[in-house]
Amino acid sequence: MTGTRAPNYGIDAPLAVRNLLIVAALGVISLITLLLGVWSRQDLIAVIAWPLIWAGLSGGAMGLWMLYDSKVGKWREREEYLDKIAWRGDERVLDVGCGLGLFLIGAAKRLSTGSAVGIDRWQQEDLSGNNPAGTLDNARIEGVAGKVEVLTGDARRLPFHDASFDVVLSSMALHNIYDAGERQSAVREIARVLESGGRVLIVDVRHTRRYAATLRDAGLDARCVQGIVSSLLTVITFGSIQFGYVIGSKTGPGSTS
Ligand SMILES: C[S@@+](CC[C@H](N)C(=O)[O-])C[C@H]1O[C@@H](n2cnc3c(N)ncnc32)[C@H](O)[C@@H]1O
Repeated sequence: MTGTRAPNYGIDAPLAVRNLLIVAALGVISLITLLLGVWSRQDLIAVIAWPLIWAGLSGGAMGLWMLYDSKVGKWREREEYLDKIAWRGDERVLDVGCGLGLFLIGAAKRLSTGSAVGIDRWQQEDLSGNNPAGTLDNARIEGVAGKVEVLTGDARRLPFHDASFDVVLSSMALHNIYDAGERQSAVREIARVLESGGRVLIVDVRHTRRYAATLRDAGLDARCVQGIVSSLLTVITFGSIQFGYVIGSKTGPGSTS
């Protein structure tokens, strides 16, 4: 960081966080009133209040974890994910669904002569304070404004020629495309704009195995990586949560990887 101000990378899924914290508050109120003897397990209200306590505790834990991850955890995670790529420093980088620039700026900090482009639809429900001016402000604060460009566009139809980038990144963005076919289009677009020998890194909370399969169908060498806890969560949720990352490269004529 070069200035005294800290960058603001926003809160992921702010509406979900708000709703979880409301449920948590209701659960705490139910618990306190139970402890104060306002109601007992035999009262009719217990039918609502008792489940509310449990929903409040689990929802509150989840909401607080999401807040912590947005404000603290994702900075560290960004560096760990970006370490998966062997950077030369001269890459042309694209961040798909860049939001306030967490990965875009993290990548730009690893560049010497290279440059990084972020593209986004700026959906407020996906990230608090989501707007291109905020991303550029963060780039200024982190001292990489000269290497970063921000565009408005859709992951499903990337406005770039084939093979325009050496590295394509996407973090916590593609699951926000709800139609499975359209998500696949976005992944195919990522494969299309990637240069031969280029590398791709997709981090997401869902669908990661499908992303890897789609990249392989597009001719890339790609695999999905999940930790033990994430894999367990995938089994428990019947595949609904697939927290992990996809790492891949595009092999072909002129490829060096
Ligand atoms: C949870 S935020 C993550 C932002 C950033 N990548 C990060 O890791 O902090 C998801 C982002 O994906 C963007 N997004 C969702 N659907 C998109 C689409 N079809 N095309 C481009 N961006 C999209 C949202 O606007 C939002 O900025």
